[in-house]
Amino acid sequence: MSSSWEEFEELIKQEMRKIYSEAAIEHSMNPKNLGELEDADGFARVIGPCGDTMEIWLKVKNGTIAQATFLTDGCGTSIASGSMTTELAKGKSIAEARKISQENVLNALGGLPEESEHCALLASNTLKEAIKDYLAMKKEPWKKAYHKHIGH
Ligand code: FES
Repeated sequence: MSSSWEEFEELIKQEMRKIYSEAAIEHSMNPKNLGELEDADGFARVIGPCGDTMEIWLKVKNGTIAQATFLTDGCGTSIASGSMTTELAKGKSIAEARKISQENVLNALGGLPEESEHCALLASNTLKEAIKDYLAMKKEPWKKAYHKHIGH
């Protein structure tokens, strides 16, 4: 990578720092847990009021979220929110992860501009739905096969 590219990247970051926290920039530019999870134990796709979609996949072991991944077609802050939400969920028990709120995501991101706060809500709502899906599948395991069939 040429140094001029790095300088350019640094320049963009400087501009972004005027609006976003360091954590929000980092999670939108280098998102964690991006992509689909094979054979997930829980999955949800939620469309936010802005029309953007977030998807979250969960792998659960002994009642703990072993792995959480996401995809979104939304903006940079929705990427940062999905990244942070899945990071917060990993390693937590289902009961704890269920409580992860928009506020928790915003705090962990060091805040977002007011007009982007709903991106964190979309991410925390998607996590809640994915957990609901996990719990439903636990009760009725045949649903898992059905999920596979429809490509989740
Ligand atoms: Fe829709 Fe960010 S999730 S604007």
